[in-house]
Amino acid sequence: MKQRILDILKNADDFVSGEDISNKTGISRAAVWKHIKSLKNMGYEIDSVTNRGYRLVSSPDLITAEEITQNLNTEFIGRRLFIYDETDSTNERAKASGEIEGSVFIAEVQNHGKGSRGRGWVSPRGTGIWHSILLKPDIPPSEVSQITLVAGLAVCKAIGMGAKIKWPNDIVIGTKKVCGILTEMSAETDMVHYVVCGIGINVNTENFDAEIKHRATSMYIESGEKQIRNDIIARELNYFEYYYKKFLEGGLGAILDEYKENCVTIGRDVTVIYKKENVTGKAADIDENGALVVETADGTIRVTSGEVSVRGIYGYV
Ligand code: BTN
Repeated sequence: MKQRILDILKNADDFVSGEDISNKTGISRAAVWKHIKSLKNMGYEIDSVTNRGYRLVSSPDLITAEEITQNLNTEFIGRRLFIYDETDSTNERAKASGEIEGSVFIAEVQNHGKGSRGRGWVSPRGTGIWHSILLKPDIPPSEVSQITLVAGLAVCKAIGMGAKIKWPNDIVIGTKKVCGILTEMSAETDMVHYVVCGIGINVNTENFDAEIKHRATSMYIESGEKQIRNDIIARELNYFEYYYKKFLEGGLGAILDEYKENCVTIGRDVTVIYKKENVTGKAADIDENGALVVETADGTIRVTSGEVSVRGIYGYV
């Protein structure tokens, strides 16, 4: 009902009387007032003037299912949305959910956000998009890491602003990271139970702590404009389903050209960990399995996952 009242206020150019809202919604004027009060508590700024009614002045930047859904054109990704005001980690919510494929878990703040390699992920309230997509692909466990590439491409397209992918799972603008992806799975040797693709996008962050300032950025810092998170989520989920379907039908090869066009790693000098050694070379390509092909002084190697430092990115020179 709150959403219905909100829609009425949003679609009006001027004040709407309590009576009008009551007629349109079929609830009493007292009930309308109660909903208006609760909307105000949620951060909506609503003028109420005797004999004129209510007027929406501004909306808070809150993630809501309604506002995401109105821009969603997917079949199954994001059709079930679970939105938390605060949680430990949306990856954990997705894992524990037992929900269907395509369900998406989003939090305004994570108090135990997880990064890759056991690190944490700073996830302050209201400034980012901390979310996880639950998937149940019929692929061998060995191919699950390729889903990170699918997600990387989708996020990169959704962000725009010249964002690029740093193989395999960072999205960068210029030389700084704007998004990280943590893909986790539950599987037996030959069967995947589920995959959780956790994506953290720095959207409206104004500044970062001293330790990460040199390597982190946000969409706001890059564009100088505050972004509407609900719009970005919808855009990303639309792209995600588009590329995920292609991937399921045709393998990584079906999206590889587009991935490579958007990948900043190819052609750059890189340092990778290969057979427990630091190896330096030139990133030449990404193969059909999603591995990074690196030309070194001792020949060509293929790196399937792990930390890659790229010359000129995050200050690596
Ligand atoms: C990285 O280290 O680059 C990966 C960061 C992944 C962060 C996202 S935020 C949403 C989801 N929930 C988590 O706890 N982590 C991922």
